[in-house]
Amino acid sequence: MTSLSSTAVQLPIASRIDGLRSEGAFEVLASARALERKGRHILHLEIGEPDFPTAPHIVEAGVRALQNGETKYGPAGGILELRIAIAAHLVSHGINAAPDDIVVTPGSKPILLYAALALLENGDEALIPDPSYPIYDSAVRFAGARPVTYRLDASNGFAPDVDAIAAAITSRTRVLFLNTPQNPTGGVIDEGGLAALAQLAEANDLIVIVDEIYRPFNYGAPPVPSLLTLPGMRERCILVDGFSKAYAMTGWRLGYGLLPTPLASRFALLALNDHACVPAFVQRAGIAALTGTQEPLNTMINEFAARRALVAGRLAAIPGVSITAPAGAFYAFPDVSAATNAAGITSAQLASKLLHEYGVALLPGTAFGAAGEGYLRLSFATGRADLDKALTLVDECFRSLAS
Ligand SMILES: Cc1ncc(COP(=O)(O)O)c(C=O)c1O
Repeated sequence: MTSLSSTAVQLPIASRIDGLRSEGAFEVLASARALERKGRHILHLEIGEPDFPTAPHIVEAGVRALQNGETKYGPAGGILELRIAIAAHLVSHGINAAPDDIVVTPGSKPILLYAALALLENGDEALIPDPSYPIYDSAVRFAGARPVTYRLDASNGFAPDVDAIAAAITSRTRVLFLNTPQNPTGGVIDEGGLAALAQLAEANDLIVIVDEIYRPFNYGAPPVPSLLTLPGMRERCILVDGFSKAYAMTGWRLGYGLLPTPLASRFALLALNDHACVPAFVQRAGIAALTGTQEPLNTMINEFAARRALVAGRLAAIPGVSITAPAGAFYAFPDVSAATNAAGITSAQLASKLLHEYGVALLPGTAFGAAGEGYLRLSFATGRADLDKALTLVDECFRSLAS
């Protein structure tokens, strides 16, 4: 089969499509897979996907639902039993959640897009962290609005700096994206920062999109509560969460938003127009995930904590690398600027060298924004044996750069 000539018809592609951005993790994964098809052995530290299998009791619940004939359309916002389970889960984290304010989606990604579409007019501004998960920028641009970045800095463990956020607010700012624990830095906001952010949101009438998909992966002392637990915040926050990371369910596509009441029916309408509903058997698996044993999650968290120590220790020993151990999530975000500056290369060139010459797939910090220059992102959601081999190769690469 040959592909059609791109010049045959001048397609009237709408300008909003140009706002969409890709995701570095998926691009590097595709390049790595192409190398594998040519027979190369690649170590995968690029994608944010737990290497653990989905727990058997979750899989069984999904299979049982299929066998019971749950193969039809369902409510656009999600089946009530799952929304009840999600609400109970959030209440156990101190968040005032009601099933009617929850919309279930295929992964949490649609909630990010719906939030931008539902809240931003052309020319409005949305504050997003730099570096950050690239879909924030993409969703805001797709909605015709302008992403304005606030910088995350290694000097305070990549926690959001509320003064820097305040300085970026203008009369057009409507929305603020907060991700804690954060992708790609592992940064976590502290309670003081959270209180200051709540005040700032209130004073400037901002809606906060609170992405807590990495909530269980918190390696520090007592976990910081959600912004939504602070007075007045539940009404002005959209909570973004899902099953991909905590329950190793990336491919099932199951996530949700907890919304201010007036937005819930609008998001359900977006869901109805977009995909009609999430398959019921996937939602049944989600109920099993939330209401069944949490042992597999706890095992995974303990393993990731051990890997975090391994990765941070190994990276710190490489000349030209400095690393703050991530407080949360499952990514290391080392500063490699000493090595890239000395070699006169960018972090994208370094990541490409590591992939093509050393067989290690990881991401340049710039896959998450301009402030990521001089950094790499390594996912430690991959087994210790592979991490160990990959870090030996990374070490070799840095030594060869320096020689
Ligand atoms: C910060 C953040 N939010 C949201 C997502 C979306 O995950 P999913 O759509 O699988 O729920 C990801 C995935 O990597 C992420 O890192």
